[in-house]
Amino acid sequence: MNPTSLDGIGETAVVVAALRALESARPDHLFLDPYAERFVEAVAGDGYWEKAPSGWAGFAEVLAGQVAVRTRYLDEALLRASAEGCGQVVLLASGMDARAYRLDWPAGTRVYEIDFAEVLAFKAGVLKGAEPLCEHVQVPADLRTDWPGALREAGFSPERPTAWLAEGMLYALPPEAADVLLDRVSRLSAPGSVLAADHAPDSPVLRESRAALSPDLVDLWLGGPRQDLGGWLRGRGWTAEVREVNEVAAQYGRPAPPAFDPARDGSGPGWLFTARLTC
Ligand SMILES: C[S@@+](CC[C@H](N)C(=O)[O-])C[C@H]1O[C@@H](n2cnc3c(N)ncnc32)[C@H](O)[C@@H]1O
Repeated sequence: MNPTSLDGIGETAVVVAALRALESARPDHLFLDPYAERFVEAVAGDGYWEKAPSGWAGFAEVLAGQVAVRTRYLDEALLRASAEGCGQVVLLASGMDARAYRLDWPAGTRVYEIDFAEVLAFKAGVLKGAEPLCEHVQVPADLRTDWPGALREAGFSPERPTAWLAEGMLYALPPEAADVLLDRVSRLSAPGSVLAADHAPDSPVLRESRAALSPDLVDLWLGGPRQDLGGWLRGRGWTAEVREVNEVAAQYGRPAPPAFDPARDGSGPGWLFTARLTC
């Protein structure tokens, strides 16, 4: 796979899909995403693993474990929130996330996906013929613009509890943009809404693995929330359970993902959280 050839259709989104394809191929997979490989094939054609750039193996070695653990954790968080009354789900910067097609949603659940129009169009083309397991609504929007307006126009109701997902994206926001995102999500959330996400500060291990894959990925990390996650969420009325990725990995019977393994030089912390809006 050559992720530098994606030219504007969500390069990082297909890289993450490739990591989900690797996990899905394991006999002991933590989740099964039968659609992930389709995205990789659509971009890189047949024999894509053989065509992978030289940095791919090292990148996958560092990131695959993290993506496996976070996907499973976030699957569980969203399904729990749906079962507990969040009848609408919003996947922010959804990329090649195939949850609308692969999770067993309660009847009547509506899943909105927000990403750039070209990314959603590519995704819809690849998934043509696949049946979503929910009411599925794509919302083409730039998250730096008035996406709440686009979401409402697509049928979203701020009066109903929502399960929000911010996966693989908080790190890519400057701190002030992370604040704006959380402010907007909070304003659109009825009591009982849930926000689930992952986050990690940059570290030498993460930086080196990105640099080995593509120079375009090096400057991807812009910081994300400036405070500790619990305080950041509490300040807007959310009660959060913030967990170390390593602890969640152990719960699933997996070792610490290399980027977060304290035994590895240059590693750093990483977190997963589920927060609920109480008022
Ligand atoms: C690393 S991918 C993560 C995708 C998905 N959440 C996942 O974990 O597989 C980042 C995604 O953010 C999207 N994205 C980046 N900036 C955006 C913006 N300003 N508005 C909407 N989507 C954006 C990209 O198109 C890409 O699909």
